[in-house]
Amino acid sequence: MSLGRDLDFTGRRVLVTGAANGFGAAMAELYAEHGARLVLADLEEAPLRAIAGRLGVEAMVFDQGDLASVTALAEQAGEVDVLVNNAGILVARPLLETPMADAARLVNVDFLGVMALMQAIGRGMVERRRGVILSISSQTAFCGGENRGVYAAAKAAVSQLTRAVAVEWGPYGVRVVCLAPGRALTRMTAETARADYSGDRGLARVPLGRWGTAEEVAKMALFLTSDAAGYVTGETVIADGGYVLG
Ligand SMILES: NC(=O)c1ccc[n+]([C@@H]2O[C@H](COP(=O)([O-])OP(=O)(O)OC[C@H]3O[C@@H](n4cnc5c(N)ncnc54)[C@H](O)[C@@H]3O)[C@@H](O)[C@H]2O)c1
Repeated sequence: MSLGRDLDFTGRRVLVTGAANGFGAAMAELYAEHGARLVLADLEEAPLRAIAGRLGVEAMVFDQGDLASVTALAEQAGEVDVLVNNAGILVARPLLETPMADAARLVNVDFLGVMALMQAIGRGMVERRRGVILSISSQTAFCGGENRGVYAAAKAAVSQLTRAVAVEWGPYGVRVVCLAPGRALTRMTAETARADYSGDRGLARVPLGRWGTAEEVAKMALFLTSDAAGYVTGETVIADGGYVLG
């Protein structure tokens, strides 16, 4: 028995979305270190090409909010062994001040785009009878949160979609899992960070006493998509320092 071998991705084609920044960029580094044949995808071309160039891997520009673009990405990517559905956006506003257009864009990217990629990439996995899909949810899927109404709802939808699809695709040997990180400082949270990080209102709720890091999220993503987690499906693993317990 060797855990090291289970964590080896040599030869496996891994598609990471949202790979130009934050969690996705940390995941790209880690999967590369573990030997994956990486495809990195993002909306933002310059930082995407920069990280892909540094790691010597493929880069594909796409818009997760556009079905045609998602379909084109899946066609370009070809046979994928592991899909990490990480790209996402945040709308941090009180519900009464959330324009419907912002809500629609968020649901389009954070839920429908994730679902569309699951369909487009999952179809081949089901045919080949192997594959793993990991989607990035959020602690807010479980505990909500001030100014997070639409975001929390979209992330909860991703977690529930994961449970349903895991049942459908389990018989074909395809695992479908979800990771719900707690708050970590990335570009996504940078704007809300001043309010949320400097005061201890949120932090006081974290039993481990600190926010998470992109590296910790990447390690959990790699573990969940590896053979070490081969009997886990349908589950959303919460990695939030205990926040939802508080
Ligand atoms: N940072 C946190 O505290 C936190 C906590 C829980 C969950 N999450 C989730 O983790 C994931 C990554 O977040 P992050 O903090 O690294 O954010 P980030 O903003 O640093 O990175 C997100 C990446 O997704 C890309 N992206 C956005 N919209 C896209 C689109 N339409 N098509 C393609 N790519 C698009 C961005 O260009 C960016 O590179 C998101 O799904 C987010 O909701 C983040």
